[in-house]
Amino acid sequence: MSANRPAAVVVLAAGEGTRMKSKTPKVLHEIAGRSLVGHVVAAARELEPEHLVVVVGHAREQVRGHLEEHYAGIRTAVQEEQNGTGHAVRMALDELGRTPEGTVVVVCGDTPLLSGETLRALADTHAADGNAVTVLSAEVPDSTGYGRIVRDGSGAVTEIVEHKDATDAQRAIREINSGVFAFDGQLLADALGKVRTDNSQGEEYLTDVLSILREAGHRVGASVAADHREILGINNRVQLAEARALLNRRLIERAMLAGVTVVDPASVFVDVTVTFEPDAVILPGTQLLGATHIGEDAEVGPNTRLKDTRVGRGARVDNTVADSAVIGDSASVGPFAYLRPGTNLGARSKAGTYVEMKNATVGEGTKVPHLSYVGDATIGEYTNIGAASVFVNYDGEAKHHTTIGSHCRTGSDNMFVAPITIGDGAYTAAGSVITKDVPAGSLAVARGQQRNIEGWVARKRPGSAAAQAAQAAAGESAGES
Ligand code: UD1
Ligand code: CA
Repeated sequence: MSANRPAAVVVLAAGEGTRMKSKTPKVLHEIAGRSLVGHVVAAARELEPEHLVVVVGHAREQVRGHLEEHYAGIRTAVQEEQNGTGHAVRMALDELGRTPEGTVVVVCGDTPLLSGETLRALADTHAADGNAVTVLSAEVPDSTGYGRIVRDGSGAVTEIVEHKDATDAQRAIREINSGVFAFDGQLLADALGKVRTDNSQGEEYLTDVLSILREAGHRVGASVAADHREILGINNRVQLAEARALLNRRLIERAMLAGVTVVDPASVFVDVTVTFEPDAVILPGTQLLGATHIGEDAEVGPNTRLKDTRVGRGARVDNTVADSAVIGDSASVGPFAYLRPGTNLGARSKAGTYVEMKNATVGEGTKVPHLSYVGDATIGEYTNIGAASVFVNYDGEAKHHTTIGSHCRTGSDNMFVAPITIGDGAYTAAGSVITKDVPAGSLAVARGQQRNIEGWVARKRPGSAAAQAAQAAAGESAGES
């Protein structure tokens, strides 16, 4: 219900994340091709809030730069010193100037699995129950480190106690604070003014707002998340790996339910931005990254890494690394091919075994089957490039372009020294170093003439096995005549 469009969403991302033991700020660590804070911002945007503010502090220039690059127009508030989650929200409200009228949702920047759907459900419950604050809670198998949700005898929420401040009895509680809240904006602002720092960490805890509001006679509630894994907070790299595995599984399940075969989901990694068509098949050991798209009936893998690459319908991509490439319908790539940026393979074309390509347009039905480098080139349709050919594109200073026409047959072991143009239907001889343009329909031969020095082995290697073999062969042919 968009009726519950919040006035503001505040994302907390000022903490250093000491437990990550990293020079990278915690919220910039990545899973599935997006930063932790990026996942949270994406979920927050689904609520279409009037204002979206990210609180930055530790390494703020780096975090702000990242947000500006990927989430244009996003607002940030600075928390100079990390005096706690309550203090961070205060900084966000200061940044907004006027206290937002309506619901303010607060989310931690380190809970990347949180979905927009769950945030929406929280906002709906908050509005339907007429609460001053609603906390998203969850029952977890291990509540170590989290704030515990304390309820009274009637089951009503009374307070949230941080792990470090909890008694043994409270530590036994398995219902925890996800760090996600919906507040009435005005009541939040008032209560934040009353939060104290008399706790084990000497910080302003946002969680204290709940008991402050309850003691003032306001309605306080908890909405229990259906799946506790969604609110996993990342504090260290073990949890980072856990979240990555869970998110990956979620993305692969979505693809499988949409008709994609994933033979071994445990060994396949997919970024959030990857898209598939039905009946694509993904074989083990495959990483699909960035804006990669896999077409219908395409088969990708095993042991393949594709980044920002488009795979056409029915294409076959085996043991390949590709970056910013386009692979046409029914094209065949690999095994052991490397397609670099600007590779554009036409329909039914082939980049075969041990073939590297870069900035190359290959026409429909054209084949580069074996052991070749194709760089800075345009090749027409239905041409065959012989094995072990190199497009010599670099003169030590600048790169040059090679153009080869349609229906050409170039010999094995050719060097095409660019800039050069080979016309339609031309042939080149094996072992040629092609330095001059080849007109359409010609045969170019550019290699040393062969010279046979007869009897050389008998004279220079007398008595050797080669000489004996040669003598026997001479005897045989003499006997035949
Ligand atoms: C917090 C909650 C805890 C909850 C847990 C859920 C508090 C006091 N504790 O604990 O109840 O179970 O999250 O994952 O709220 N941050 C700032 N400024 C600060 C401090 C933190 O922006 O001064 C940001 C951090 O960057 C992080 C988030 O707030 O994104 C949570 O901080 P963190 O230190 O991870 O809190 P927890 O100890 O996990
Ligand atoms: Ca945390």
